[in-house]
This record gives sequence, structure tokens and C-alpha cells, in this order.
Amino acid sequence: MHFISFADLPREEIEALLDRADDLKRMRRQGALTDYLKNRSLAMIFEKSSTRTRVSFEVGMTDLGGHALYLDPTSMQLGRGETVEDTGRILSGYVHGIMIRAKKHRTVEQLARNAAVPVINGLSDLEHPCQALADLMTIREKKGHLQGLKFAWVGDGNNVCNSLILASAMMGMEIAVACPKGYEPDEGIVAKARAMGGKVTITDDVKKAAKKADVLYTDVWVSMGDEAEKERRCNDLADYQINMDLIRLAKKDCLIMHCLPAHRGEEITDEAIRSPNSVIFDQAENRLHAQKALMMRLMGKDAPVILKMGRDVRT
Ligand code: CP
Ligand code: NVA
Repeated sequence: MHFISFADLPREEIEALLDRADDLKRMRRQGALTDYLKNRSLAMIFEKSSTRTRVSFEVGMTDLGGHALYLDPTSMQLGRGETVEDTGRILSGYVHGIMIRAKKHRTVEQLARNAAVPVINGLSDLEHPCQALADLMTIREKKGHLQGLKFAWVGDGNNVCNSLILASAMMGMEIAVACPKGYEPDEGIVAKARAMGGKVTITDDVKKAAKKADVLYTDVWVSMGDEAEKERRCNDLADYQINMDLIRLAKKDCLIMHCLPAHRGEEITDEAIRSPNSVIFDQAENRLHAQKALMMRLMGKDAPVILKMGRDVRT
């Protein structure tokens, strides 16, 4: 079992993961130690920069009694022409899971096809499913439920947006993506979400999308790998910013969200980040708890048993 796309796990498993993540968060606050992944190792390959993903996976493994290895492709044989396929086979002989942040989604899929251990997508050009998992945890934590909420995405229809479209469809949230022409989310993802019964609207009218929204979410205008298009992107996306005027159109208790890193003054204003409605730093923390639950599901030898136990946590 891999976690490459948000749609890789069915709704009931996502719900169980969110319950488990809540429990793990509470236990960590209480200082309870866990060893669910004792003597297990996670290889982490990063083809792109990271702060949150790297630290949350590494600390998550330590918290669970296991070990994480940071692997930089430029200092691996991967950087000298060894294939992704061989790398997947070889790492599978040493570790119990592989997390990869890749430039191309195809690389994540190739790795998964050749790995005998679970592969986790730590961001590709198509999806960022671990981010969406932590985001669902955050929304549920603040709102108490997900079903029926109105989610508005503002800006570039990028990798994070794609995973959130699938996540919304699976969990019964209505999603409106407000973006200029040419910045729409992936067509295949939108079709998949709609086929699952998801209510997905794509519009260039940012005010319409934000109106009475329960969640307002944005991400950088220039994703990693898009740097050459910076000027054009900043011009095209200039009207797609989360600011106090836009927030006033949403529900009074609307959550302001951003996966971070943020570029203040571009996709979001500093005032919006600091507004009382902002849950941006909770999202970042929840990466840790949500991914611990995910790793227990994918890498724990008794993972299915743990899931069946629901909210009953063993310490
Ligand atoms: N949100 C996120 O994935 O952050 P990093 O790029 O810092 O890992
Ligand atoms: N869309 C951004 C997300 C960073 C976490 C990127 O791909 O760079």
C-alpha cells in the first residue's frame, strides 16, 4: 500500500487516520512515549527543498521509536545515473518505507512500482497528499466536522490544490477553485473528484468563490520549479490574494489556511496570516501528527489491527 495520491486510501481509512492523528497529538501533549515503529526506518529522498515535510517526517519517526534517513539525490548514486527502479529495489532491502519529494510525479510512481515497501508522496508536481491529510485534520479540529463545508481555493490550481480537490470530494466538502485562465487544476484530478460525487467548481471569479466560504485557502503563486515564470505568474495571479477584503466575504468564522511557505504581500497579506481566523500554524504542526498516523498505517506490522481499534490508543 502506497500513499501517492490522496485518493489511494478510502474515506473510512482517512477517517481512521484522522482519529489516530488526534490521539497522537493528545498523547504527545501529555508527554506519552510511543514505540509503534520501533526498529523501523524511513528513507526520505528530497529532489526539492523542504522545511516542514523533512522535519515532521524525521521527528515523527523518532517519536514512534523508529529512525529516518535524509537522502539528497545529488549525493546518492541516483544523481550519477542509477535508475529510480534500482533505487527502489535496493532501499526496500534496508528500510520499511520510502518518502520522496520529486520534481515529477512519474518518479514517485516509478519508485512505487519497484519498491517492496510503502512509498509516500512528500510532494510532486501533481499532488501533495500529506499536506491535504494534515489540512483535513486541522479543519475537523476547528469545525468539528468536514461534511457539507464550503471550501474555497484562491490562486494557482497547483499540486496542493489537486490533493485538496480529491480530499474535499472524498470527505463531502464542496470546493470552489478561483484562478485565472491557464492556472486551472489538473483536469484528470477534477474529473476523478467529480466521478466520486464531489462538487467541484472552477471559476475565475474570486469573490464568488469566497462568498460564505467556511475555509479560504491559498498557496504560493510560484511553486518550486516555476521560478522562470515568476514575473508572468505574479502579474496573472495579482487579483487572487487572500486579504481582509476577501475574508469579509466569507463566513464570520471562516478558517484562513495556507500550506506554507508563504510570500506575504503576494498570495496572502501579513494581516490575513495574523488574523484571528488564521489556522496556518496549526496546519504546519498537524503535519507531524497526521504523518505519524499515516506511517503507522503503512509501516507498522500490526497497522490494520491498530486501525480496527479506532480511538482506543495503546501506550
Ligand atoms: N508545506 C510544505 O510541504 O512545506 P515544506 O516545503 O517546507 O516541506
Ligand atoms: N505548491 C508549492 C507547495 C510547497 C509546499 C510548491 O510546489 O512549491
